[in-house]
Amino acid sequence: MAYNLLKGKRGIITGALNENSIAWKVAEKAHEEGAAFVLTNAPVAMRMGEMNALAEKTNSQIIPADATSVEDLTDLFTKSQEVLGGKIDFVLHSIGMSVNMRKTIPYAESNYEYFLKGVDISALSFHKMLSVAKKLDAISEWGSVVALTYMAAQRTYPFYTDMADIKAMLESIARSFGYHYGIEKKVRINTVSQSPTKTTAGTGIKGFSDFFDYADAMSPLGNADAESCADYCITLFSDLTRMVTMQNLFHDGGYSSTGVSTEIMHKFGLK
Ligand SMILES: NC(=O)c1ccc[n+]([C@@H]2O[C@H](COP(=O)([O-])OP(=O)(O)OC[C@H]3O[C@@H](n4cnc5c(N)ncnc54)[C@H](O)[C@@H]3O)[C@@H](O)[C@H]2O)c1
Repeated sequence: MAYNLLKGKRGIITGALNENSIAWKVAEKAHEEGAAFVLTNAPVAMRMGEMNALAEKTNSQIIPADATSVEDLTDLFTKSQEVLGGKIDFVLHSIGMSVNMRKTIPYAESNYEYFLKGVDISALSFHKMLSVAKKLDAISEWGSVVALTYMAAQRTYPFYTDMADIKAMLESIARSFGYHYGIEKKVRINTVSQSPTKTTAGTGIKGFSDFFDYADAMSPLGNADAESCADYCITLFSDLTRMVTMQNLFHDGGYSSTGVSTEIMHKFGLK
């Protein structure tokens, strides 16, 4: 059901790689809710070509940008305003990659070159994006920026390796930048801490499917899927949440507040 929550709003949506991507669902919902937006991804992801179908379906243009490049991001924010005909009202940062994780390198033995690459792609890119937008004055007053994160920023999940530290940095950037951009332009910045989700980035994590089942059994509502995450992002882009900023918001079916569930107790043979 659509409510026209984003009618007349202009956005930039990063990270829609294929139809499993959380960003893909956000784009579909944003379109249903009346927004106009630009889709963007790293030039290398563009070669897979799947994004074209989404662009067609949502009547949007694609502007390639490597999120680690200030030059590409400047081009992205400049062209997006031209294409959409005004300042940007919402931005989704849905970008994550850890080479250490991909190569299943144990946390204590992290390769530092890979570590820095992970920081640049998955956290610093958020700072760069916000800094470029602020310099260009590209985001409208009361605009909303959301980045996706995971709870390993607060609690240890051994399989999440260096991404745990990287997500902690991402969430910190939301708070720090949220202050400065809020004071200056009333732009709000939040992170959404999402349940494990079956996407390319998610399933790249070693032991993902066992952990997915564990988290599902731990969450009173079960794991939140990509579609419900998209719904939540839409509310954050809408005017209904205009006083929410600098928050890390859990979207996880209650997982983060649950110590243990009866289902997990039973799995261990406990009553
Ligand atoms: N899937 C999960 O279990 C889960 C849980 C919590 C948070 N998240 C976060 O959600 C976000 C989206 O991931 P997803 O699960 O939809 O997976 P995904 O693999 O579909 O999306 C990751 C995206 O990052 C893009 N990307 C990588 N390097 C880039 C670069 N240099 N410049 C621009 N884009 C680049 C990829 O092309 C891809 O589109 C990530 O931040 C991820 O950490 C995912």
